[in-house]
Amino acid sequence: SPAMAEARERTFLAIKPDGVQRRLIGEIISRFEQKGFKLVASKMVHASEELLEEHYAEHKGKGFFPKLIAYMSSGPVFAMVWEGTEVIRTCRTMMGATKPLESAPGTIRGDYAIDMGRNIIHGSDSVESAEREISLWFSDDKEIINWECASNSWI
Ligand code: TYD
Ligand code: MG
Repeated sequence: SPAMAEARERTFLAIKPDGVQRRLIGEIISRFEQKGFKLVASKMVHASEELLEEHYAEHKGKGFFPKLIAYMSSGPVFAMVWEGTEVIRTCRTMMGATKPLESAPGTIRGDYAIDMGRNIIHGSDSVESAEREISLWFSDDKEIINWECASNSWI
């Protein structure tokens, strides 16, 4: 049904190396769990430059691109797939704006980041980029888990 399709919207999120090193994985997962979204895949990845260049292909050629790839490959990231109604746009809102001056208090970047180059978290920005990024980082049949609550439907 259309309602099921909507509820099954998925996004790709990754806690960047600064977020991992600052021990923010638990804090960040808590925010999305408490909001009501469902974690359906997660893993720690020390990503190769090749993977990151593919992930950030839209930014290839821009001035900040080499630094972005160096930073993102400097240590492990915590990669995740989250599911729920309007999860893509809602997670972007909860992450906060890319520019530190524009990321509001209460958002992840607003609360934890002061530098655009070290802004804690990545999140897909559209249905198309979510599908592309999920399939780039995860193998659907092995790593993404479809699970349901055993005996309630109130979430
Ligand atoms: P972008 O996709 O524009 O932002 P977002 O992460 O909010 O989707 O850019 C990707 C990352 O590149 C961004 O999180 C931080 C870095 N970046 C810079 O270092 N300088 C810049 O001018 C921009 C636009 C991004
Ligand atoms: Mg982006």
